[in-house]
Amino acid sequence: MRLQPRKIETNNGIQGELTVELFDRFAKRMRDKGWNGVESFFNAGIQGGAVLEVGPGPGYVGLEWLKKSKCGTLTGLEISPAMIRIAEKNAREYMLSHQVNYIEGSCMAMPFADHSFDAAFSNGSLHEWEDPVLAFHEIHRVLKPNGIFCISDLRRDVSLLTRSFLYFSVQPKEMRPGMLTSLAAAYTVNELEQLMASTAFQEIQIHSDFCGLTVSGIKEPLTPSM
Ligand SMILES: C[S@@+](CC[C@H](N)C(=O)[O-])C[C@H]1O[C@@H](n2cnc3c(N)ncnc32)[C@H](O)[C@@H]1O
Repeated sequence: MRLQPRKIETNNGIQGELTVELFDRFAKRMRDKGWNGVESFFNAGIQGGAVLEVGPGPGYVGLEWLKKSKCGTLTGLEISPAMIRIAEKNAREYMLSHQVNYIEGSCMAMPFADHSFDAAFSNGSLHEWEDPVLAFHEIHRVLKPNGIFCISDLRRDVSLLTRSFLYFSVQPKEMRPGMLTSLAAAYTVNELEQLMASTAFQEIQIHSDFCGLTVSGIKEPLTPSM
């Protein structure tokens, strides 16, 4: 099957109360099945500290990370106010409200000072970023020297079998068309390699599996000025 070019899914994140409520049910089920990518954040070395989550949506991924982390605090940067309302409710249910703060804004213009975070992670959001190079520029800017990032997402070049598996595993059923538009907007490993070559990150690793990809790396240490 010939790979189709990327089709942008959304430039303004997931908005609308009904879509957000359906997405919450979908993401909760993913959490319950353990399909949430949290292990890849730990494997990348994100164990604790002041951590930024980009596009937390209803929050389960970050909240699961926070629950297992050592002394972590989480700042979720989310473009959708409706998602933030759900994430705040979920944080209360996890009894983690005191360690998490959701901020409305875009990852392409982050409302944070330089060197604010020890680490940054994101799951399932990269394919929605209108200008991913700018978003990685922002991630680089807000990370401290030696800060770690780890970004996971779907990949577009999945097999037909995987596409069907992913489609039919989505519940509630109303979310199934959204899986197809997300796959169509996702990157391939080659595209992600090219994209990362335009960012300030020098040391990166890309891993892929049958349905997704993960890029992680470390911001360069501070070099003493002459
Ligand atoms: C597919 S959802 C994934 C949510 C969550 N990370 C998960 O894995 O369940 C993508 C999220 O990224 C958010 N998003 C999209 N573009 C964004 C941007 N430019 N800045 C911040 N968040 C964004 C969307 O509103 C949505 O909540």
